[in-house]
Formats: sequence, structure tokens, C-alpha cells
Amino acid sequence: MNPTTNPSAGVLARYGHLMNIPAHTRPVTLLEGSTPLIPMPRLADELGGGFELYVKFEGMNPTGSFKDRGMTVAISEAYGRGAKAVICASTGNTAASAAAYASRAGMRAIVIIPEGKVAAGKLAGAVAYGAEVVQIEGSFDDALDLVVQISEHHPIALVNSLNPYRLEGQKTAAFEITEILGEAPDWLCLPVGNAGNISAYWMGFMEQRQRSGTGLPRVLGVQAEGSAPLVLGHPVEKPETVATAIRIGKPARGEQALEAAEQSNGRIIAVSDEEILHMQRRLAASGVWVEPASAAGLAGLARQLREGHITLDELRGKRIAAVCTGHGMKDPDIIARSMPAPQRLPAELRALEDALVGGR
Ligand code: F0G
Repeated sequence: MNPTTNPSAGVLARYGHLMNIPAHTRPVTLLEGSTPLIPMPRLADELGGGFELYVKFEGMNPTGSFKDRGMTVAISEAYGRGAKAVICASTGNTAASAAAYASRAGMRAIVIIPEGKVAAGKLAGAVAYGAEVVQIEGSFDDALDLVVQISEHHPIALVNSLNPYRLEGQKTAAFEITEILGEAPDWLCLPVGNAGNISAYWMGFMEQRQRSGTGLPRVLGVQAEGSAPLVLGHPVEKPETVATAIRIGKPARGEQALEAAEQSNGRIIAVSDEEILHMQRRLAASGVWVEPASAAGLAGLARQLREGHITLDELRGKRIAAVCTGHGMKDPDIIARSMPAPQRLPAELRALEDALVGGR
């Protein structure tokens, strides 16, 4: 089967010819990408209706987040030039992804995580894939500063999204959305943390336009209110949010993210933790369980509609793609904490019928 049209090939096989990567790149893949673009008609109606809403469910990647698209490329490049070790700072998803791809290539993976607040499923993933995990007494931003310095002084490849190959891989999600819709969506909504992903999408849509004349989406980037440096216009010393994946106070690609928002005639806004968790529940009510950060993009859209910054009139007949970056199963704590204990009954038909359908 032709790898460019085979949906079960990885992003290098499908889109490597559209990537700016060195010839020494040697594919290390888990067949990432080709994630579903799920229509969300009921949620669209709840938000006011009249437009088409789709979720690009990146939680369906091999390690449960969009990071795999970029990681396959960053690790393949490092592997191809003979690197023996990779390092990253991470709020969790990058760590798990780096660990999976590095171990597949037989490379050492070192991941530096901030104190506390890394979701259990992500940490467990990193450990399961064989990473060396170090927790520092500091934030993600501190961790990123440190890994940049280590990679400058030691033969250890940096695989955070400062690594340009990460973006080369992540831009493929823009290609996939455009292929499925036959056009770019009118709006793209997504969460913003270290700002690599929004930069990669914008690059992807711009390149796609050059290549095939498709349009450009307006980009709505969404941060959490307690971690909103791009909205405030200055770094946040002690970022806080329930959406731990985007608990970042000094985004490495902040400038690029602001440019993407401006060039696209979009914007970057912030939403509260309550809005994020509310949207997480609404998505789950349509069968899509995402981690809290991943609900931020749509929480942002809901808020823009509520406040009239985006109107139903202007959305009529339009198509909106929301990127849901990671799977809910990575961060079950937040749901488990608010979950009532399941009802306990004897293992008897009568008891079940009485409780569930009011008896016989
Ligand atoms: N959503 C999820 C689930 C994430 O894990 C991240 C980033 C983002 C959104 C934001 O993407 O940083 O490119 O703006 N997680 C990084 C990590 C920081 O370490 O896993 P971004």
C-alpha cells in the first residue's frame, strides 16, 4: 500500500516528503497520526447551533497525546545521527512520548518533571516505557531552562518543542484536518501551554495553502487563567491550573503563538478551571473523554460565544475544528475525585431490578 495514503502508516511515512528534515533521519515510529476527526453535532447545538463542529481527537495517538506526531520525527532525527540519549522537560505527555520512542530506538530517555501535579497516567507511562524520571523542586519552566543547558553541554538530544523537528511532525495534524474536510476549517481552537502545537498547526496550514491553495483557519488559542502569560503579556512566576498539562508560565514559543493568532485574525484567550472542567464533562457526554487541558480550546470557544466576541451569525454554515490534545485516561484523578462511590448491591437479579427499573 502506498504509505502516503495508508492511514495506518506513521506521519514520517505519510508526510516525510513535506517535512524539512535532514537526510540522516531514520524512522522510529509507532504508527502515530491519522487520528479521528469526530463530528460533534450535539455539542454544536448546545453552543447555539448553525455551524459544524469537529474534534480532532489526538488522544488516539499511541501514547495518548499529540506529542507522538512530533516525537517520532525528533527521535528519528536524533537516532539517525547516532544520538544515544534524549532529554526533555515535561508536564507529563512529552515525557511519556519521548520515553516510548526513545526506548523503541534503544536510546536512553531522561525526563525532568516539575514538582507535584503530573498526572498519574503520564508518569506511569514514562516509567513503563523505561524513562529515567527526575522530579525537580521547581516548575516546568525551571525544568525547561535546565534541560536546554544540559543539551548544550552534553551529547544528549533535546526533544522539547524547541527542537524544530517536533514541529515538523506536529504540523501534519493540520494536513489531516484539511484532507478530511477538503478545506481548512474556518476556526481552529486549541489549548496553549509551551506554544509548540499552535505554532506547528499554523505552519502546517500555511504550507498547505502554498501547496494546494486551501484557505487558512482563524486560530483561537486558549490558556488557563492561572497560567496565561500570553494573555497577560508577561511570564507567570507560579502558574496554577487544574489543567496540569498547560501549567506553564513562560512558553518557549510564545512569540510564534502570538504571531499565529495575529496573522490568522484569531486570538489567544484564557478560561477558568471551572470552564475547563465543565467542557471536559460536556465532551464526555458526547463520548469523547479528554484530559482537562484538552478541553480548554472548546471552553474558549464557548466563552467567546457567551461574551459575544464570536457570534452565531458569523459562524453560520462555518466549520470549526477543536484539537483535543490528550486522552482522559491519562488523568483520571480529577474525575475520580468528584465521582460518587458506586452503589453496592448483592449479586442478585431482584436487587438489581429493584434498584434499576423499579422492580418487576
Ligand atoms: N494539551 C496537552 C494534553 C499537553 O500535554 C500540552 C503540552 C498542551 C496541550 C499544550 O501544547 O505546549 O505545544 O502549547 N504538554 C507539554 C508536556 C508541555 O510536557 O507534555 P503546547
